[in-house]
Amino acid sequence: MMVTAAPHGHTPIFFMIKPDGVPRESAIMKMIEPLASVVARRPFELVDMERIERLYAVHKDKPFYPRLMEYFREMPAVAYLLRERQDTVYQNGFYASFIDLVGDTDPARALPGTIRRLSADTLEKSLAEKRALRNLVHRSTTLEETLNEAPLFFWDHVRDSSKVKGAPGVLGLFLSRAGEGIFFEDRVQSGLRRYNLLSADEELVYYQDYRGGEGDPLEQGRALAETRVQGTRVIKDLTPPS
Ligand code: CDP
Ligand code: MG
Repeated sequence: MMVTAAPHGHTPIFFMIKPDGVPRESAIMKMIEPLASVVARRPFELVDMERIERLYAVHKDKPFYPRLMEYFREMPAVAYLLRERQDTVYQNGFYASFIDLVGDTDPARALPGTIRRLSADTLEKSLAEKRALRNLVHRSTTLEETLNEAPLFFWDHVRDSSKVKGAPGVLGLFLSRAGEGIFFEDRVQSGLRRYNLLSADEELVYYQDYRGGEGDPLEQGRALAETRVQGTRVIKDLTPPS
């Protein structure tokens, strides 16, 4: 009997460009490219504070928490769902490599070659000026965190009244320990029913929510998924009819 190798991991990481990182998004994403691929990108012109409060709920009692909230208020941010590259071997695992690439919370302590080193801010300055530390990006540090944090930014690609194939429901990214997919969530009497819109042999390559991606005006307002089925590339239009 032939023993087949375990499938390459599809481990996801939730990543976010914070307000001070937004003007440097392309430089940051260039640094990330060798390490992770982009599954989904969602820009927020003004990030919802409710999502940010939930993202940083663990820090609610910390002295810097109110400053952290101020830092995001009325500011743009970009959420990403990344995943490990299938052509890359991660010596200490995907998360460890990614955490190393992002660098220390305090940019003054971030090593050369790390993303946070691009910031000129320091913990010392931020304390003296009574504001949050500007360190460009957020990243989940464990799969557990990703499964909690990514849905805050990706699971509502919805107008409540949206319709897909005639049924009222919700379209969004589906994240589970097994990998990613696209789900369609239907409101039924007993609550919510979730359908995976991808077949078992279909691999999600990229998902763009119907609000559209930046810099691609033609695609504005369309939800698209790029998938692969047995090596063949498939583009699906998942835009909910209005
Ligand atoms: O982001 P990271 O996981 O490296 O750091 P954290 O300790 O979880 O803190 C979350 C975020 O709070 C940091 O990235 C900073 O933006 C902010 N922070 C701050 O403004 N001042 C501090 N003294 C500590 C954290
Ligand atoms: Mg943290």
